[in-house]
Amino acid sequence: TVLVVDFGAQYAQLIARRVRECHVYSEIVPSTMPVEEMMAKKPKAIILSGGPSSVYAEGAPPVPRGLFETGVPTFGICYGFQAMAQALGGTVARTGVAEYGGTRLEVSREGVLFAGLPAEQSVWMSHGDSVSAAPEGFDVTAFTPETPVAAFEHPVKGLYGVQFHPEVLHSEHGQSVLKHFLDAAGCRPSWTMLNIVEEAVEAVRAQIGPEGRAICGLSGGVDSAVAAAIVQRAIGDRLTCVFVDHGLLRKGEAEQVERDFVAATGVKLRVVDAADRFLKALDGVTDPEEKRKIIGREFIRVFEDEQRAIIADGPVDFLVQGTLYPDVVESGGGTGTANIKSHHNVGGLPDDLQFQLVEPLRALFKDEVRRAGEELGLPAAMVWRQPFPGPGLGIRIVGAVSRERLEILREADAIAREELSRAGLDREIWQCPVVLLADVRSVGVQGDGRTYGHPVVLRPVSSEDAMTADWSRVPYDVLARISTRITNEVREVNRVVLDVTSKPPGTIEWE
Ligand code: XMP
Repeated sequence: TVLVVDFGAQYAQLIARRVRECHVYSEIVPSTMPVEEMMAKKPKAIILSGGPSSVYAEGAPPVPRGLFETGVPTFGICYGFQAMAQALGGTVARTGVAEYGGTRLEVSREGVLFAGLPAEQSVWMSHGDSVSAAPEGFDVTAFTPETPVAAFEHPVKGLYGVQFHPEVLHSEHGQSVLKHFLDAAGCRPSWTMLNIVEEAVEAVRAQIGPEGRAICGLSGGVDSAVAAAIVQRAIGDRLTCVFVDHGLLRKGEAEQVERDFVAATGVKLRVVDAADRFLKALDGVTDPEEKRKIIGREFIRVFEDEQRAIIADGPVDFLVQGTLYPDVVESGGGTGTANIKSHHNVGGLPDDLQFQLVEPLRALFKDEVRRAGEELGLPAAMVWRQPFPGPGLGIRIVGAVSRERLEILREADAIAREELSRAGLDREIWQCPVVLLADVRSVGVQGDGRTYGHPVVLRPVSSEDAMTADWSRVPYDVLARISTRITNEVREVNRVVLDVTSKPPGTIEWE
C-alpha cells in the first residue's frame, strides 16, 4: 500500500489514481490521521499531497507528528514538498512570488527521480512561497526561473520531493518521476485487475460468511453489475439480484441484463417486468419533477415487494451496493462497513429493514471498475455504458410518457448511439441524450407527401464529471448520417435538431 496523505488538495485523488496506474495499490488518508494508525496499514511508501499554497498560509496543516522518523520512503508534492523541507530543517522563503500553470523545469542532476529524463521539461506549478534551501544532506536536483529548489532528494533516507505536480498530465514526465519514486521505495507492480478482483471476492466471502444471503438491485449500469458479479463469485446462489424493468430503458438494455449479464456471470436473477405499472402511474404527467418522483416511488415499491418475496425464503442480512472510491473519499473516507439504513443507489429501501452493506467497489475508481468488469467477462456494452439517468427515457420525452412515444424515442436513440459508436466517438463524448419533443409538431415533406411529425434533439456533450459540460463538436458528416437515418427509419420523426448549449446554463438532460 502507498498512502497518499491528503492535505486538502483537489489533487489527492489524482495522485492515488496515478499510483494505481503504476499497478501499485494506493489509499488516501487525511493528514490528521495519527502516524501509528498510518503504520498499522503497513505502507511501503507515503506521498504527501499538495494543499494550501504555502506552509505559511493560514490554517496550513502540519505534517503528522513522527512521520519522518518511521523510515518509510516519502515523497512530498507541492505543499507536501514545502512541509517536508520545513520539518527537516530546510528553509521555505516567504517570497510572495507565486507560480501558476506551465513552467520550464531545469534538471541540474538526474538523481533518482529524473533518471534518464530530459534536462529540460515542462511541469505544472501551483504554489506561493518557495523552498530556498534544502534540508541538510539533501541533493537539489532541479530549479525553475522562479524557484531555486524545485526538487530535492535524499535517497539514503528515502526522502524525495518536487515543487511541481507530477500527477497532472501537463507535467510532461510526471508519471515517470512518480514511477521512479515508487521503484526506489521498492513498490512492486502487483495491483493488477486479476488481483483486484480476487481480493474483492475474498473480502466479500469473509464479510458475508458461509451462510449469509445477500440481495442486489441491478440498474443496467456498470457499477451495480460489477458489484453483483463479484459477490456472485464469492457466494454463488446465496446472492439474489433484482432487476426492475421500468420500461424506460433504451433499446437492448433490458436484454443485456436479463440475458447477456446472466449468461456471463451465472447470477440468480429475478426480473420484474413493471412497465405497465410505471406507465400507468406516469399517464398524462408532464412535469419533470413529478415524473422523477413517480418513477422513484414506484421503483421503491416494486423493489420492496421483491425483497419481501426473497426474505420469505429465508433471512437476508446483506445488501450489495456499487459505491465507488470517490464517493467514499468525498463523504469523509473511512474503512469498514457501517450498519445503516440504506436508502440510496438502489432507489431506497423501507425504514424497517436493516441491512449490512456489501460494497465491493469501495476501493475502486470508475475506470478500474470498468476494467474489473472486463476481467469478470461482463458484456462490453454494459462495461462501457455512458452515464444514463435512473428515470431513463421518462425524462427524455418532453411531454407525457406513453408506450408509443417511448418506442419512437428508443428507435431514434438507438440510431444515434450506433452512428456515434461507429464514428469512434464513444470515449470522446460523455453522453448523448436524444430527446423527443412529443408535443411539438412541424411540417415536412417526404416522398410526394406532406408530413407532420415530431422533432428529436441530439444533445452530445463533453464533460469531466457532469457538473459542467460543453456541447460536443461532432463532425458534420456524422450528424448528417444520424439525421438522415432517423428521419428515414423512424416514421414519426421528421426533424433532427442539435442542442448547442453548454452547462451551465443548460443542464445535460432536458428535464
Ligand atoms: P443534468 O441534466 O443535471 O445531468 O445536467 C447531470 C448528469 O446526471 C444524470 N441525471 C440523472 N441521473 N437520476 C440519475 O440517476 C436522475 O434523476 C438524473 N438526472 C440527470 C444525467 O444523465 C447526467 O449524466
